[in-house]
Amino acid sequence: MRRRWVGGNWKMNGSLEDISSLVDGMITGLAGFEDAEVVVFPSFVYLPKVKGQLSGSKIFFGAQNVSQFDHGAYTGEVSASMLADIGCKFVLVGHSERRHVYGETSEVVAEKFSQALSHRLTPVLCIGETLEQREANQTEQVVLEQLNTVIGEVGVESLGRSVIAYEPVWAIGTGLTATPEQAQEVHSFIRKTIALQHEALADEIQIVYGGSVKAANAAEIFEMPDVDGGLIGGASLKANEFVEIVKS
Ligand code: PGA
Repeated sequence: MRRRWVGGNWKMNGSLEDISSLVDGMITGLAGFEDAEVVVFPSFVYLPKVKGQLSGSKIFFGAQNVSQFDHGAYTGEVSASMLADIGCKFVLVGHSERRHVYGETSEVVAEKFSQALSHRLTPVLCIGETLEQREANQTEQVVLEQLNTVIGEVGVESLGRSVIAYEPVWAIGTGLTATPEQAQEVHSFIRKTIALQHEALADEIQIVYGGSVKAANAAEIFEMPDVDGGLIGGASLKANEFVEIVKS
């Protein structure tokens, strides 16, 4: 049985005050709830604050990005060892906003994935196609390229130490959610692709869906056999809404 996993990606939002009440709301709303692994992803600067607030709770925290380099003269970057140093357990790699706004290639994403593993962080690998690619019937090809570049870098075994987030770019922040069937179709494709190389691992790996998930549609998406949870953006900025999604 794969454990359920739900992440809240806060992106570049919030202030000390907002985050403090958001975390409080989540801790209260999820007290005693153990049916899913829950992780929040604040901006780097708020990580120590969130860590302090979460101590004693079962909610984990992670970073939204990590450098592909180990250390050195990389102004503005944050290394995997620094994240590990402050007690981070998870890190997002290859989020579509990183790929599309900052031009991260699959190769760079694979290097970030590898850095995360080297420092015992769990990378959450985000993959997914744009609307143009979907309309051109290239969804499988795009997802395959994104996945295989990582496998080429770290080997299929290492995928077992990650979470995969299928996030169709056209569904992120747009209010356009993939239908449960559309999500299931790609999740099943991802699992089968991994199974071709490592059957046991394909069975165990958590594959979560992201893209306009909210309390109103979470249950029907999470019900799909190959969907193991979600990566939530906008709706994770409201404690009640996020708690409801987690409980779905
Ligand atoms: P959204 O974002 O839920 O706001 O669509 C999801 C994500 O970017 O991970």
